[in-house]
Amino acid sequence: MKIAILGHGTVGSGVAEILIENANEVSAAAEKNIELGAILDIRNFEGISYSDKFVSDFDEILNDPEIGIVAEAMGGTEPAFSYIKAALEKGKNAVTSNKELVAEKGAELLSIARSHNVNFLFEASVGGGIPLIRPLYSAMNAAGITEMAGILNGTTNYILTKMFRFGSGYEEALADAQRLGYAERDPSADVLGFDACRKIAILSSLVWKKTLRPEEIPTEGIDKITAEDVSLAETCGFSIKLIARAKKLSDGKIFAKVSPALIRNDSPLASVNDVFNAVLVRAKTTGDVLFYGKGAGKMPTASAMISDIIECAKSENNIKSVFWEDGAQSVFAGRDSNAERYFIRTSFDASEIIEGAEIIGENAYITSPLSESEVSVLTDKINEHGKLLSKIPLFE
Ligand code: HSE
Repeated sequence: MKIAILGHGTVGSGVAEILIENANEVSAAAEKNIELGAILDIRNFEGISYSDKFVSDFDEILNDPEIGIVAEAMGGTEPAFSYIKAALEKGKNAVTSNKELVAEKGAELLSIARSHNVNFLFEASVGGGIPLIRPLYSAMNAAGITEMAGILNGTTNYILTKMFRFGSGYEEALADAQRLGYAERDPSADVLGFDACRKIAILSSLVWKKTLRPEEIPTEGIDKITAEDVSLAETCGFSIKLIARAKKLSDGKIFAKVSPALIRNDSPLASVNDVFNAVLVRAKTTGDVLFYGKGAGKMPTASAMISDIIECAKSENNIKSVFWEDGAQSVFAGRDSNAERYFIRTSFDASEIIEGAEIIGENAYITSPLSESEVSVLTDKINEHGKLLSKIPLFE
């Protein structure tokens, strides 16, 4: 069976290298011969050992009956969506590492795949090299998952780790993450939290079987975290991590949020550093399960795509039961359906304004549990008297 790769960037080139260098292992695992058939990329790759594989027209891939699996690593919704849709409709399997595409078009592509009796798999879209998607839809399918929380963006975790360990500047740490191939083409998707937001939307949709729309999830990035926050958090025994969470409420609605959060140093997520990701999954039957591994980078992500390629090759005419509905009604429970404590830093003594708060340093407080509306009222009140310098929820 031949494989076509769409996009020869960081991840796509990793997939090509594994297919060529580990051809025997991949074929043995797939129980049939697996071969790199074509790579779609308009750039010039002359001099590369497999330069004969490059094509610049997707139709060459679409119309090649020997290509049974399309591996998309281009990123963005278009033309990735149109290409994958066309491939599925033509009876080809598709695998992708594209978070944006799965978060926005997952339900539609899964439905097209199902009606054409082929697979659409996306292990590489969340958690890089961590086997996460497949365990969630297979091993934990009936475990009664109630809650998930994790560090889902390698770039921001790398930046925060550098800021904590070495007092590195934000810009310097971001440049390193870009050089190492962790960051998105536009790294604002990482630092502003959109990448983690898409990933928690995918996990929620997958586990609770209805699309959670990324645009509904309150999302904040790490761009406002200062050296003072880092230093005060450390003094008080906390780390700061970008945490993506989702939980199913008793009415069946989902509360989700992405934001930096203070985490006590004895929490398992506090020791997840550098490019590593971790997801804590809480389920009725299993209790807490922790997934941990490299969340970004060429080979970990390419390896997850290879695992999907093998799964597709092994399950011809026996498609996997991954599926979720794209309902007209929102499943998001609303911003105020959750209350949490906040770390607050002000430019003045605000102890009389922040009722019931614990004072943890000079002009620094931890509030009692507040909803989003309550914290927004408190923010306005503080800004009437002076300045709110930081507001970071506690992850408990
Ligand atoms: N930019 C992403 C990250 C890549 O840093 O986690 C992996 O999805």
